[in-house]
Amino acid sequence: MARLIVVSNRVSAPVRNAERAGGLEVALQAVFKNHPGVWFGWSGRVVASKEEIETRTTELDGQQYIVTDLTREDNKEYYNGFANRVLWPILHYRLDLAEYSFRDLTGYLRVNEHFADEIHKIIQPDDIVWVHDYHLIPLAKALRERGHRNKIGFFLHIPLPPPEILTALPGHDRLFHSFYDYDLIGFQTETDRVNFARYLVNDCKLATRDLETFLAGDRTIKLGAFPVSIDVDEVARWSQQGARSKLARELEGSLGGRKMIIGVDRLDYSKGLIERMRSFGKFLEQYPHWQNRVAYIQVTPRSRSKIQEYADMDAQVGSMVGKINGTYGQVAWTPIRYVNKSYARSSLAALYRLGSVGLVTPLRDGMNLVAKEYVASQNPADPGVLILSRFAGASHELSGAMLVNPYDTDSVADAIDQALNMTLEERRERHEQSFEALKANDIALWGERFLNELAMKSSELSMFAAAFPKAG
Ligand code: UDP
Ligand code: G6P
Repeated sequence: MARLIVVSNRVSAPVRNAERAGGLEVALQAVFKNHPGVWFGWSGRVVASKEEIETRTTELDGQQYIVTDLTREDNKEYYNGFANRVLWPILHYRLDLAEYSFRDLTGYLRVNEHFADEIHKIIQPDDIVWVHDYHLIPLAKALRERGHRNKIGFFLHIPLPPPEILTALPGHDRLFHSFYDYDLIGFQTETDRVNFARYLVNDCKLATRDLETFLAGDRTIKLGAFPVSIDVDEVARWSQQGARSKLARELEGSLGGRKMIIGVDRLDYSKGLIERMRSFGKFLEQYPHWQNRVAYIQVTPRSRSKIQEYADMDAQVGSMVGKINGTYGQVAWTPIRYVNKSYARSSLAALYRLGSVGLVTPLRDGMNLVAKEYVASQNPADPGVLILSRFAGASHELSGAMLVNPYDTDSVADAIDQALNMTLEERRERHEQSFEALKANDIALWGERFLNELAMKSSELSMFAAAFPKAG
């Protein structure tokens, strides 16, 4: 097979290995197990000026990592600015939080040009390029402008909202037209794919027969849904082995026979932590017999802390936790154990297994791998119950979960009580249903499906282009 070049803002550099949060890194690490190649992206280093930027290559087990630095200005305008204060909120349906500035857009385009310059130095004609996430939408265009005709695919790890939201982005047409330079664009769910298809038809007037293949000038682009997943066997193994670990034994000992609820999320407003805390407070108020009989462990590593909305949220969640613990806690019982620290995924698997309830209630999420990891970590003979937001991509697959509306904090409080009371029989049935769905879409399949589709694309599409009249 041709060489695979994967490009993403975050790169899981081999030296840094373990305790990092983020679904993109987790998914890509798994792809490289089957397809060693090149992983290109940001080094994580921020330098004072352009002259200090370095691009470094490391190799490990046949896998190449090429990482480049960002300047302070790049970090501010591209990463903290346009990517995370404009695209992230808009694509998560949060127009109210988007802070658009032309200057940030310029920084965003500049970093995409820099990435393209660096890739230009190493790309070969038959390489397959797979670009990931909202940081790098214009990258294919920048590569085409440098003369590269390679197959280039794109996968969006986060949601894609309806055109009514997308069109609120100033200059959306210019930015989203740069999608035309990809051969294949992958989304997490059918809903995301259909939303983008509607945008291409309604706002870009592209011709299509089936809402999957579109004609854009003299190029054809294809859209598909490729729900990202996890290595189910690996996570199940971690959870079994981890059950005997020091961490799991200590935690179990500290529960003193109480049931445990577990939540694991980056500290991000999309994760619905404020609403979740409100729900948990209501649960303790409305079902007082559970007081001193449950412990809620919330693992929440800080994320993008330089961004104001994230800093504000950090303060707000912290204060809500303090309030609930102050109101309901007792000298020998803390209702919520709130930890702003990240753990290795193998340790998390052991924690999930101890959780009678997995609480995963984002307001909007592309997929949510934590939900899948929770299911894979359960003991099938005595599994816990997943309470899952209907607004997470994972809700399309995990049919055994209790689906909730995270904005309806009363019903989430009720769901916690129901989950804690659920019979063994129902827990097993629900777990089996979700586990079957997980097994049917393991992470290995995700990479294979996307790359096969990208490889297949050209012959299919030239036939389509010849047969289809251009839109007027
Ligand atoms: N994660 C981790 N350590 C932590 C918290 C999270 O390794 O302390 C991992 C978690 O196991 C999952 C990923 O980070 O694989 C988070 O992915 P998800 O899709 O749930 O959310 P994202 O952070 O990508 O929005
Ligand atoms: C989500 C995004 C990824 C991102 C991750 C962590 O999963 O889809 O692109 O890498 O969050 O965010 P960070 O800003 O730390 O890379």
